[in-house]
Amino acid sequence: MVIGSGGREHAVAWALAKSPGIDEVLCVPGNGGTAAEKKCRNIPVAAGNLPEIVEAAKREFADGDGSFAVIGPENPLADGIADLLNAAGIPVVGPMKAAANLEASKDAAKAFMKKYGVACAASETCTDLETALAAVAKADGAVVVKADGLAAGKGVVVAADKATAEDAVRRFMQDGELGDAGKTLVIEEYLAGEEISVLAAVSVTPESTADGTACILPFMPARDHKRLLDGAEGPNTGGMGAISPVPDLKPEIMQQFQERILEPTLEGLKAEGFDYRGFLFFGLMLTDSGPKLLEYNVRLGDPETQAVLPLLDSDFAELCRAITGGTLASFPLKWKSGCVCAPVAVSAGYPGAYGTGKAIRVDGQKVRSAGGKIFFAGAVQKDGGLYTSGGRVLACAASGETPQEAAQHAYAAMDGVHFDGMFFRKDIGAPGAAVSKTMKGGAQ
Ligand code: AMP
Ligand code: GLY
Repeated sequence: MVIGSGGREHAVAWALAKSPGIDEVLCVPGNGGTAAEKKCRNIPVAAGNLPEIVEAAKREFADGDGSFAVIGPENPLADGIADLLNAAGIPVVGPMKAAANLEASKDAAKAFMKKYGVACAASETCTDLETALAAVAKADGAVVVKADGLAAGKGVVVAADKATAEDAVRRFMQDGELGDAGKTLVIEEYLAGEEISVLAAVSVTPESTADGTACILPFMPARDHKRLLDGAEGPNTGGMGAISPVPDLKPEIMQQFQERILEPTLEGLKAEGFDYRGFLFFGLMLTDSGPKLLEYNVRLGDPETQAVLPLLDSDFAELCRAITGGTLASFPLKWKSGCVCAPVAVSAGYPGAYGTGKAIRVDGQKVRSAGGKIFFAGAVQKDGGLYTSGGRVLACAASGETPQEAAQHAYAAMDGVHFDGMFFRKDIGAPGAAVSKTMKGGAQ
């Protein structure tokens, strides 16, 4: 059972369905893409309806049939879906609520990073306006203002100057723009550099900590492209495309990531006594003094997953079972050679207001001959047709021996997809495509 309705969840469902050990993938609620995916069946229960999800799992799963649930988005994890499913005897890929706080609270995440010596930006947590404004005043140039709670990507302001930072502090704390999520703020040192994402499988329980098998298994690194327009210009979005692995990433960076970020994180998860069997996303900034952790997400990334899972050369369902069953430390994780590029197509107007209900036409022949795979997100099936239902509509993933070849294939496949107002970036995975030249390393 896959919980969620985005492109990430379509990719997860597709990867599970490819496994010979999987008879059926239940997508809760899924989308127009999963509705048409082989072996997949949508169940119309919202990802936020925790009691109904538990009921559906109890109804659909038979004892000992090897069924399990994979949780896509952060909100149900923060609300304790893993605790509820585990209590009902259902294996879950996704951390318990206590560990999900590493994403649900920026303050908790920073406290964890500092406690266990994870390389990260200097920061101060502020619970009142005066302290927050004082912290901003101390900053030398650019500074980052982060709301503590979950804010669907709207809680971070990378401010190029103090006035912008002060404005953000007032909007979050005084005007309550983000509700409770913005009552506590983390004021953080600005880090310049390029960002990468490392997704990982995690299996840490008190038992595996005791017997030495607790582990974090990192995946191929990936890069999201958050700005709307080519050259990393325009407003921030939920992600305009991803590439994996990250082109030209020096091996010593991954070594430093391992030593300065992954290993202390593992020690911390163990020391806190967490039950963390799921995925963990490390959001990294590659600074002049090495990689630093910007954030943990307690789930897979979107759209990174749409580029990373097609590269996986191991059975994804077996990987999930190794996570829940405590055998991850000996799991043979294998990757295909080459690269996957996955540009995202969005509705006209996104990330502002956009229309929905536009017919999506897919020339299957064209997409297939380019070697593309479409992962749908904001798309629904109606009367046998596909229609747009969101801002980010789909990602078109394709592989190649080089990043250039992967991009060429992905864009050739994208050429077989049409809907009114369709827009996509043309430079996903290209050198420099993730960092703005005019906006000071992405500061806004
Ligand atoms: P977060 O949710 O913490 O990852 O922040 C969202 C985005 O804001 C990141 O992906 C970065 O692009 C940017 N960001 C966050 N923290 C910093 C920082 N300390 N310095 C520069 N950019 C940052
Ligand atoms: N790609 C960023 C995220 O999933 O949060």
